[in-house]
Amino acid sequence: MLLLSFLLVCHGGSLRKSFYQHSCPQADDIIKTKTLQHVSADPNLPAKLLRLHFHDCFVRFNKPLWEVLTGRRDGTVSKSSEALANIPAPFFNFTQLKQNFARKGLTVHDLVVLSGAHTIGIAHCNSFSNRLYNFTGKGDQDPSLDSTYAAFLKTKCKSLSDTTTRVEMDPGSSGNFDSHYYPNLLQKKGLFQSDAALLTQDQSKGIAEELVNQNKFFTEFAQSMERMGAIKDLTGSAGEIRIKCSIVNS
Ligand code: HEM
Ligand SMILES: *[C@@H]1O[C@H](CO)[C@@H](O)[C@H](O)[C@H]1NC(C)=O
Ligand SMILES: *[C@@H]1O[C@H](CO)[C@@H](O)[C@H](O)[C@H]1NC(C)=O
Repeated sequence: MLLLSFLLVCHGGSLRKSFYQHSCPQADDIIKTKTLQHVSADPNLPAKLLRLHFHDCFVRFNKPLWEVLTGRRDGTVSKSSEALANIPAPFFNFTQLKQNFARKGLTVHDLVVLSGAHTIGIAHCNSFSNRLYNFTGKGDQDPSLDSTYAAFLKTKCKSLSDTTTRVEMDPGSSGNFDSHYYPNLLQKKGLFQSDAALLTQDQSKGIAEELVNQNKFFTEFAQSMERMGAIKDLTGSAGEIRIKCSIVNS
């Protein structure tokens, strides 16, 4: 998952400074030579990897590079049932999100900051189309979703049975890692119920308002990613260092 940070950095440009300026100034050159070709081959890769990172793999952003490269021990068992049980669903309300993050030692602040990752990437219609077509089971729309944005989404996701179409999560800049997630969210244009849920509490809404400031978002994101990276860290002889991050060694 080291590749993730490399890719994000090459791709995002502006992210580079806050992630590596202090922690790893030499990262720049390595990044350029090793990974630019991967991103140009697939511009969607950073988003996929960032989500994967959230789910499974972990990076220690502020540790020396070699330690990241060689030091990560992953579990030897990778169960999809286990993974799904731990991953928050896009239908979660604030209480559920808060609990899910708290179980991993992450705060409401981390929740709001890390949700900003939805500034990049794409989502399948069925992750949110209940908000468009059948929110409470009465063929209705989620009132917490901006109606203009909902109308736009309906042109993409034509029915509840559409499980294949994908839409940009941060319309217009879903390829850029920036702070646009927050002004969109505050205009009720967060794509998932889990995004909209962040506006249902004064505390989390206040944090979202602060994170509109891009410098602040980048600083906080790096810190929360580090905290997320420390989850379930296996040391000593527990687990193994994966040759391929996504696959248990054979
Ligand atoms: C707060 C709870 C979260 C929920 C409920 C959630 C849910 C989701 C869902 C449902 C999707 C779309 C999947 C699909 O339909 O194909 C998605 C995409 C994504 N999520 Fe999250 N997520 C959460 C937090 C995070 C965090 C913490 C990160 C990383 C720091 C993250 C990074 C991403 C990225 C990058 C994508 C786009 C993937 C792609 O384009 O292939 N999410 N998320
Ligand atoms: C959140 O969802 C849970 C589980 O469905 C439910 O018990 C709880 O009442 C909900 N909380 C709020 C604030 O809606
Ligand atoms: C909407 O939800 C209700 C209640 O869950 C369900 O009975 C109905 O079939 C759903 N409508 C569609 C179009 O799926």
